[in-house]
Amino acid sequence: MSALKLRNLKIVLLFAVVLLSIGLALWAIPVRASEPAQKTEEYCLSCHNNPDLEMTLPSGEKLSLYVSPETIAKSMHSPLGIECEACHTNISTYPHPAQTYQDKRSFSRGYYEACKKCHSTNYAKTMDSMHNKAAEAGNLNAPVCTDCHGYHNVQKPDQPRSAISTTCSQCHADIYNEYKDSVHGKALIEENNADVPVCTDCHGVHNVQDPRTAQFRVKSPELCAGCHANADLMKKYNLPADVYSLYQISWHGVDVSVYEARWPTIQHQSAVCTDCHGVHNIRSTKDPQSSVNPANLLATCQKCHPDAGPNWTGAWTGHVQISLEATPFVYYTQLFYSSFTPFVLWLSVIYVALQISRAMVDRVRRALQ
Ligand code: HEC
Ligand code: HEC
Ligand code: HEC
Ligand code: HEC
Ligand code: HEC
Ligand code: HEC
Ligand code: HEC
Ligand code: HEC
Ligand code: HEC
Repeated sequence: MSALKLRNLKIVLLFAVVLLSIGLALWAIPVRASEPAQKTEEYCLSCHNNPDLEMTLPSGEKLSLYVSPETIAKSMHSPLGIECEACHTNISTYPHPAQTYQDKRSFSRGYYEACKKCHSTNYAKTMDSMHNKAAEAGNLNAPVCTDCHGYHNVQKPDQPRSAISTTCSQCHADIYNEYKDSVHGKALIEENNADVPVCTDCHGVHNVQDPRTAQFRVKSPELCAGCHANADLMKKYNLPADVYSLYQISWHGVDVSVYEARWPTIQHQSAVCTDCHGVHNIRSTKDPQSSVNPANLLATCQKCHPDAGPNWTGAWTGHVQISLEATPFVYYTQLFYSSFTPFVLWLSVIYVALQISRAMVDRVRRALQ
């Protein structure tokens, strides 16, 4: 009896163990199925999570080989399943293939192609940029993808928007310092204002071009017009939206548009927006440091009109809609000429017509005699 009971118990136990193992096996399958997704990372990090791991390059520079698992986990790529081997295409096991880089900079630049596979459009754009031209001319400090984006810590590059300008500031610190005190930079940095231009709005991002060419200069007023001729945007800041259209019909603007249409590659001397307002240091017209503040305006004009006297600036109407209230003298002068010129023309027409009819009458008379 007791033996039978014991046998039954054994069977029950055996059954339970079998059930348990089946259950465990079933539970384990999904675990293993999701495992390979993290396998490379875990494998590589098993050595590279050591903060002391480093190597000495032939140049004598030390290269830290530490890769922070936390940083990798928070980067754009890892959560999408893009792992070490996606970029380190030649490394899959240890020992690694021998590497040939002499110094840190050539190691960084050597990875330029790593991003090309998936971001080919941006890669192609950078090939055509001023930065790449500088590199080809021997300036290896010119940036590659990783200088601006990082590599194990890639984040959305435009969040917050001010991050774009600080990215450029790493190497263009002087310009950034001017920009951060400008009316545009202040609004961006202090108020997180998205309406003002960052470096890339004027220079482009991956295809940065040389801004000192005649073509860039002659097109630069259109750059400003992108915002300063936008009536809705300017209304928000209580600024006039006609500075561009009035500039276009001003002496300087007409000059510039003739160059743009006929000789875009010839460097011209007529004034574009930035000649009067500055480039990276544009300030509010009310700011005493503004180059167009009444206190500094004459000096600004004198850059190109060295003989200009104190009355010169008063005669400038480049941004002013001619009206009786704002510019009575110019208004009356224009009114005078706009009625006097047609008057003289009509007078001449009448005079010529009278001459012709007189001549005809004379001829007829002579014929009849
Ligand atoms: C067993 C430990 C170990 C593992 C696993 C390992 N590494 Fe390394 N790694 C090293 C050491 C040590 C160096 C120093 C140079 C050397 O000995 O080759 C190094 C160097 C590197 C370098 C810089 C030098 C070079 O060869 O380009 C990179 C990049 C690198 N490892 C990536 C990886 C990746 C990616 C993985 C995973 C596929 C990985 N490592 C797995 C130990 C390891
Ligand atoms: C999005 C592409 C990308 C991924 C993913 C990536 N790396 Fe890298 N890694 C790079 C680039 C690019 C460099 C060289 C950057 C430089 O030095 O300018 C680099 C450099 C390294 C170095 C040399 C030390 C250093 O910091 O410069 C090691 C080691 C390394 N990676 C290991 C890893 C490991 C381990 C993983 C996975 C956990 C990984 N990488 C994932 C792009 C990547
Ligand atoms: C295996 C393909 C792959 C490789 C290699 C790769 N990326 Fe990516 N990258 C992606 C994907 C997929 C996304 C997310 C989709 C997106 O937003 O475009 C992404 C997103 C990004 C973003 C954020 C884009 C955004 O929308 O804000 C940047 C910046 C970036 N990668 C830079 C790099 C750099 C730099 C390298 C080289 C070191 C690199 N990537 C290598 C596939 C890749
Ligand atoms: C001089 C700095 C710089 C270099 C070099 C650079 N980028 Fe960018 N990249 C930026 C900035 C800044 C943005 C954000 C631009 C914006 O929103 O106006 C950006 C945006 C991106 C984006 C997201 C938007 C998009 O266009 O899809 C990706 C992806 C990207 N870059 C990949 C790359 C790759 C790959 C390389 C190298 C071939 C590279 N970048 C080189 C600065 C740079
Ligand atoms: C890693 C350093 C680095 C970063 C980051 C960088 N630049 Fe440059 N930039 C250079 C170098 C180097 C040159 C070439 C200078 C030369 O040869 O005169 C250059 C040239 C330029 C030029 C052409 C004018 C000139 O002086 O040759 C412009 C415009 C420019 N960069 C804009 C930008 C913008 C916009 C950003 C941010 C999106 C940026 N740069 C980020 C290093 C950098
Ligand atoms: C509102 C448009 C605008 C913005 C914003 C802007 N730039 Fe410029 N930048 C220009 C113009 C126009 C020139 C050409 C000036 C000239 O004729 O010399 C220029 C010239 C340059 C040059 C080359 C000439 C020099 O002075 O060395 C560099 C480099 C440059 N900018 C970088 C930057 C960087 C970095 C930022 C962001 C901090 C930035 N720019 C923001 C319009 C802009
Ligand atoms: C991306 C849009 C944008 C571009 C491009 C732009 N601006 Fe502006 N600008 C603004 C906004 C918005 C303000 C108002 C900022 C504020 O008051 O906080 C402003 C303010 C100004 C002011 C100050 C006006 C005052 O007296 O208060 C001047 C001057 C100016 N910009 C000139 C220029 C010139 C010159 C260019 C071209 C080189 C230019 N801007 C390009 C958006 C832009
Ligand atoms: C010949 C010099 C000169 C040129 C060129 C010039 N400006 Fe001005 N700008 C001034 C002066 C002076 C003022 C201040 C007096 C005024 O508003 O008439 C001013 C004022 C402004 C203001 C502030 C207006 C207000 O009422 O607060 C803006 C915005 C502006 N300019 C943008 C531009 C843009 C955009 C261009 C190019 C399309 C440009 N300027 C070309 C000299 C110039
Ligand atoms: C970047 C150089 C430059 C700046 C700065 C500049 N101008 Fe001019 N300006 C010119 C050129 C070039 C002409 C065309 C001369 C010609 O066609 O004979 C011109 C023409 C003029 C004319 C009409 C022709 C004449 O000589 O009488 C007036 C008026 C004038 N500028 C006023 C100003 C005033 C006012 C300022 C300052 C607010 C100013 N300019 C700033 C370059 C400049």
